[in-house]
Amino acid sequence: MDLSTTIAGVRFPSCFMNASGALCVTREELLALGRSCAGAIVTKSMTVEPRDGNSTPRYYGFSGGSINSMGLPNLGYRAYAELIPELKRLGKPVIASVAGLCEDDFPTIAAMIDAAKPDLIEVNLSCPNIPGKPQIGYDAEASERLLKRVRKVITVPMGVKLPPYFDPAHHSAMGAVISRCGVDFLNLINSVGNGLVVDPEREVVVIKPKGGFGGLGGSIIKPVALANVRAFWKIFEGRMPIIGTGGVVNGVDAFEHLLCGASAVQIGTVLVEEGLGVFRRLETELTEQLDKKGYKKLEDCRGKLKEL
Ligand code: DHB
Repeated sequence: MDLSTTIAGVRFPSCFMNASGALCVTREELLALGRSCAGAIVTKSMTVEPRDGNSTPRYYGFSGGSINSMGLPNLGYRAYAELIPELKRLGKPVIASVAGLCEDDFPTIAAMIDAAKPDLIEVNLSCPNIPGKPQIGYDAEASERLLKRVRKVITVPMGVKLPPYFDPAHHSAMGAVISRCGVDFLNLINSVGNGLVVDPEREVVVIKPKGGFGGLGGSIIKPVALANVRAFWKIFEGRMPIIGTGGVVNGVDAFEHLLCGASAVQIGTVLVEEGLGVFRRLETELTEQLDKKGYKKLEDCRGKLKEL
């Protein structure tokens, strides 16, 4: 089955790719993604200067999901800008994920990374793990200010990675912001921020930073991810390309994201847990699911979720 997809005019050979953060910090990891079955190479969210990130342990996987508070460990945008030409030679789209420690960092990084010509840029408004820095995506005015500034310096398709929202009022407020900022695609959702996982045996938290608080991923967040994909699909009446991220463990999970309106699907927790072989497995499983349902290609089921 052809699982290729197109987002903002860019063709992806497969609809599956890594979620930013999963196995995408170093040159070696990024090259390995390039050589895998993944449909794209997504970089770790980058800051101006290289960062080691938070203290360890800072990732913990459990049955049903994961919690992390990595703290933006990355090579700094200059290193990723240098790597982009090499990554592009691997024959699949490169998505550069742009973050920052303050608002001014975003346009600086966006301009410099845009000059290296990634195929797309994803502006991350939703890192939950920097002590003392709230997720920008929960502040509609700050989001609008920032997106208008980065839009001016980005020439490739620009997407926005949003945090999960839990109320239709927040979906519509952010939808209005997005519609005013020249956004070409959305990536929904980042981790469910500031959860807490407890080890009842040892009576202790499982990760060190922020007293154990961290971003949740994996199966446990799938209904939240699907709700956000569906809500924004409806707000934009199917005309805004959406990458669905959150809780995809098998081919049926991916199918659910497509039904809600996703054009592609990103893999975080299960990529970390299972390694690069996950992409081939997911392609096989989604193909089986589409065959079983009589769909001949991805677009045929996109957004087709029925309501009662
Ligand atoms: C980190 C986590 C995120 O969810 C994100 O969007 C960016 C960075 C991190 O802790 O490194």
